[in-house]
Amino acid sequence: MSGKIALVTGGNRGIGWQTALELSRAGVKVVIGARTEAQGREAAEKLKAAGAEVEWIRLDVTKAEDREAARAYLEKRFGRLDILVNNAGVAAGGFPPVGPDHTASEVAMEKLRAVMETNFFAVVAMTQAMLPLLKASEAGRIVNLSSILGSLTEQANKKSPFYMAKSFAYSASKTALNSLTVHLAFDLRRTKIKVNAAHPGWVKTEMGGKDAQMELEDGAKTSVMLALLPEDGPSGGFFHMGQALPW
Ligand SMILES: NC(=O)c1ccc[n+]([C@@H]2O[C@H](COP(=O)([O-])OP(=O)(O)OC[C@H]3O[C@@H](n4cnc5c(N)ncnc54)[C@H](OP(=O)(O)O)[C@@H]3O)[C@@H](O)[C@H]2O)c1
Repeated sequence: MSGKIALVTGGNRGIGWQTALELSRAGVKVVIGARTEAQGREAAEKLKAAGAEVEWIRLDVTKAEDREAARAYLEKRFGRLDILVNNAGVAAGGFPPVGPDHTASEVAMEKLRAVMETNFFAVVAMTQAMLPLLKASEAGRIVNLSSILGSLTEQANKKSPFYMAKSFAYSASKTALNSLTVHLAFDLRRTKIKVNAAHPGWVKTEMGGKDAQMELEDGAKTSVMLALLPEDGPSGGFFHMGQALPW
């Protein structure tokens, strides 16, 4: 794996931070995106203390000027990008999802737009900005951090363990992200770039909360697996720990 270059958005904490650590341990040169300089520096120092060599850039994925600066930085520094982990994401409110913020009948349009902006529109824009650099790679990989809560199959199935976990803005944003995954994989089908959606599991992070089932170390595994897919690996799929999930 040595020599590969990765960008992990929202890499200053949670699953993104752990993904950066694991990719670095696999020999990948990792650049993490963080919204502020203080967060970027602190996260990079913690990664260094844990044995990883990373660089950080200031990157709010919803800001066009930040995305362009990130593209320019990577182009100048490396001339290509091998792995893009679209990890940055926001929830629509607390978890478990209770209250009007989470319902389709009552969610404020402002809240719905804000969640869609980060979890969907910004990912489309980030990916479009990075595509020329990914095309310059010998084997580009795009990992979109989705969620099982974005699976329409599970949300519509009364027998699903996720049926009662209804958070409309969050789920809709991840369903849209899944659609991006399918469409982009189609667009890139004649290239060496693979694009897949990941459900990390219910992970102990600020978003997942302390009652989550999975430790951070395991929560990064799906992202890392998809980031390091071999040439004969899948593209246009939705996975958790190597298992295909229903859309
Ligand atoms: N934890 C789970 O159980 C779980 C389950 C399914 C899917 N996921 C998905 O996995 C991904 C990571 O989740 P997590 O649990 O690690 O969440 P987290 O602990 O809340 O971390 C979210 C990360 O995204 C960053 N972020 C948010 N908005 C951003 C923006 N506009 N620009 C750049 N960075 C931004 C945050 O930066 P700041 O520190 O600046 O806020 C933070 O680094 C998310 O996409 C999430 O939806 C998580």
